[in-house]
Amino acid sequence: MGLRITVIGLGYLGVTHAVALVEFGHEVLGVEPDQSKLESLQKGVVPFYEPGLQEALEKALQTGRLQFSKTHTEFSKTADVHFICVGTPQQENSFAANTDYVVAATRDVAKFVSPESLVVGKSTVPVGTAHSLQTVLNDTAGFEVSLAWNPEFLREGTALEDSRHPDRIVVGSNQKNAFERLREVYKPALDSGSPFVEMDIETSELVKVAANSFLATKISFINAMAEIAEVTGADTVKLAEAIGYDERIGNKFLKTGIGFGGGCLPKDIRAFMARAEELGVQDAVDFLRDIDAINQRRRARVIEILVSELGDLKGKKIGILGAAFKPNSDDLRDSPALHIANQLSERGATIAIHDPKASVGLKEQYPTFNVMQTALDVFRGADAVVLATEWNEYREIQPEIALELASNPVIVDGRNILDVNLWLSAGWNLYALGRNVQRGKH
Ligand code: UGA
Repeated sequence: MGLRITVIGLGYLGVTHAVALVEFGHEVLGVEPDQSKLESLQKGVVPFYEPGLQEALEKALQTGRLQFSKTHTEFSKTADVHFICVGTPQQENSFAANTDYVVAATRDVAKFVSPESLVVGKSTVPVGTAHSLQTVLNDTAGFEVSLAWNPEFLREGTALEDSRHPDRIVVGSNQKNAFERLREVYKPALDSGSPFVEMDIETSELVKVAANSFLATKISFINAMAEIAEVTGADTVKLAEAIGYDERIGNKFLKTGIGFGGGCLPKDIRAFMARAEELGVQDAVDFLRDIDAINQRRRARVIEILVSELGDLKGKKIGILGAAFKPNSDDLRDSPALHIANQLSERGATIAIHDPKASVGLKEQYPTFNVMQTALDVFRGADAVVLATEWNEYREIQPEIALELASNPVIVDGRNILDVNLWLSAGWNLYALGRNVQRGKH
């Protein structure tokens, strides 16, 4: 028989986790205070775009083992495990993570825990957070509450598969029974081969930020190479392919372009920087700051190219292909595409933008941008176009047709997906970040 589990906080992580837990055979109560998110889920509608999740949510609801509520219910009192999945966004006036929601969720659940139940943090937190949450739990509950940290490594776009078959399950706890309980939770994933890695709670908090910082470092490394390639005429795409054949380096996360965005990598690296500063480890702060700076410079590079081509951007029409921080997602958080679009808009350019999945969010959050129906609409009358998110459909754009629509044949490929020869021979002035195709070195 499955376990009784609460999942607190129903964002990308919480919804996917809740659905996967039901698939694993458990009974789940999802707790979400945001009324509109909650109503959507109660109606069986995922309030964001994530491939496959809508169908999986419908199936999970049909089992009768998944329910959603605004607050904890009687169910919570008898639950075996409580997962905390709330967000830890960047603080408004600093790089540090805002852990207020985690603290509030912990204080709240502490009123419902039993001496047999286990509280598990999944949110990404600065190292040392779990230690203080243990005190919050014990003080509110009036007994020693079992606590574990179980960081999540799912990627948007493949969230469901990542939850069904995690490439590792990391568990940190200072209480022995926590490991056993979490092995029960994840039994189907363990049976299908996911490794289960046990450690102390501080290390498990650190694993998550270390993993995301490493991924950010890989991207910024290749983008630092791009800065060199652009002044020497070398080609970073070829360079990445060549070094990637070395298994120790690997070919993943070496895609050069306008860099990383989203709700995780940028804020996690900054939160890590802030925590390292608090801990007095200045060398680590400097290292992480460079990774972030390289990433920001790639966005600035696009503006530089457009200014060099168009001069004053005031009144210029610029088309942007893609708004989400990556394809197969409608997530606009810290999107490099939108950062660039905002910078251009601040310089007086008019923005026409297209995204296959993020139109609704775009219209709500960026009312001054013209949100276009199709990718080709972005080219109409454009003085320049920037390809900012590598949606598959953008690979299919015919350069000849795009050329007829545009006022000026300038395109910046910020993700290196366009066929350079095709676009150049159609008459486009193509800039591919890190490739210097302008010098005919492609
Ligand atoms: C990231 C991590 O990959 C997950 O393991 C982690 O669980 C998640 O954050 C999280 O902390 O919740 P995600 O934010 O979905 O996942 O996105 P990534 O696939 O990591 O991509 C991040 C950004 O890097 C995107 O803007 C993408 O376009 C960019 N990127 C990625 C590159 O610029 N080059 C690459 O080679 C790869």
